[in-house]
Amino acid sequence: MVKVNIQVEEEHWELEVAEGANLLLEAAARSVPIPFRCTTGRCGTCRVQVTAGADQCSDYTELELFHMDGADLASGDRLACQTFVYGDVSIKVP
Ligand code: FES
Repeated sequence: MVKVNIQVEEEHWELEVAEGANLLLEAAARSVPIPFRCTTGRCGTCRVQVTAGADQCSDYTELELFHMDGADLASGDRLACQTFVYGDVSIKVP
């Protein structure tokens, strides 16, 4: 199991998820309010910022790279529906 800390404004959640779990699906299953629409990487709605543990996440998908520029990537932005976690991470929802 890995720990996923999620901050949405002033609220925090700490989830324990299986290694390799999808970030958006795990958050949604626990009613963590990450906005989403398509769940397939096309709408860009589920954007989050990985503030710690970026190296514990899956590589960027082509769909993520389509939605983001260099500044977004440097900030650790990800699409939650395209991100799988393999170690402890911290996430901020803008
Ligand atoms: S929910 Fe549409 S890109 Fe993630």
